[in-house]
Amino acid sequence: MKVVRTCAEMIEISKFYIKQNLRLGFAPTMGCLHDGHLSLLEHLNRRCDARVASIFVNPKQFCPGEDFERYPRDEERDLKLLKKNCDYVFIPYEKEMYPKGFSTSVEVSGLSDTLCGKKRMGHFKGVTTVVARLFGIVRPTFAAFGQKDYQQFVIIKKMTQDLSFGIQLIMCPTVREKDGLAMSSRNMYLSSEERARALSLRKALLTAKKEIEIGQTKAENLKKTMLKVMNNLGAKAEYAEIVDTENLQTVDPIHGEVLLAVAAYVGKTRLIDNEILRCKEL
Ligand code: PAF
Repeated sequence: MKVVRTCAEMIEISKFYIKQNLRLGFAPTMGCLHDGHLSLLEHLNRRCDARVASIFVNPKQFCPGEDFERYPRDEERDLKLLKKNCDYVFIPYEKEMYPKGFSTSVEVSGLSDTLCGKKRMGHFKGVTTVVARLFGIVRPTFAAFGQKDYQQFVIIKKMTQDLSFGIQLIMCPTVREKDGLAMSSRNMYLSSEERARALSLRKALLTAKKEIEIGQTKAENLKKTMLKVMNNLGAKAEYAEIVDTENLQTVDPIHGEVLLAVAAYVGKTRLIDNEILRCKEL
């Protein structure tokens, strides 16, 4: 596994693969890796000739007052985890990613204004800007993202289509701890007592899923149920929504393929989770 620190070197490596018609698979990350990240590389392994992971804590996607400064960083541990799982790790310096005078941003309107986008102003603009920049440098054939960040996936997919990047995106299932908690780098912030309360997000989704299975179709009622479960189990719910999986707009009464999405604070830590369901057509 080779560690690459500059954009110029990464571009040269990418050119080498493109010239030989070989497929590069790419998993962008912000480090503090867990099994969810490793599963992205596993999914890429089946389709690609070589795999690139990037580690870059992107300042542009943190809103004022968020955890950019304290976001967990442990390069040595990440490199150990990646060793057997990828061929290149791209760890650019901030001044490489955003050199002096860098003045471009990429924004997908509409899809970025719902769910987490309503609460984290500018977050998705920061994500699409860095992912567009990374795509331009790595130029992969495939790029993998996790379902836990479903809205992020849909937005990046739209950007990839609108800007004709010619990259095939793979959405990989959320990897969970044994008790169902969705893996996230931010789980590290949780105390053991908060860790137990964090399960309320999953519980809310599963409760709504059960209600749907026994015939509930009113999104408003299902949302209320999810908010209640989270708040009763010790989280501070931020939102519970049921939206169309493609346009992310509310669906009520629910029908077709829908996304149940929740966000909540457990202590100071903001967590998200979701579930995709196929419901009856109207
Ligand atoms: O999902 C993440 O870790 C980040 O949003 C990403 C895609 C690496 C962009 O910084």
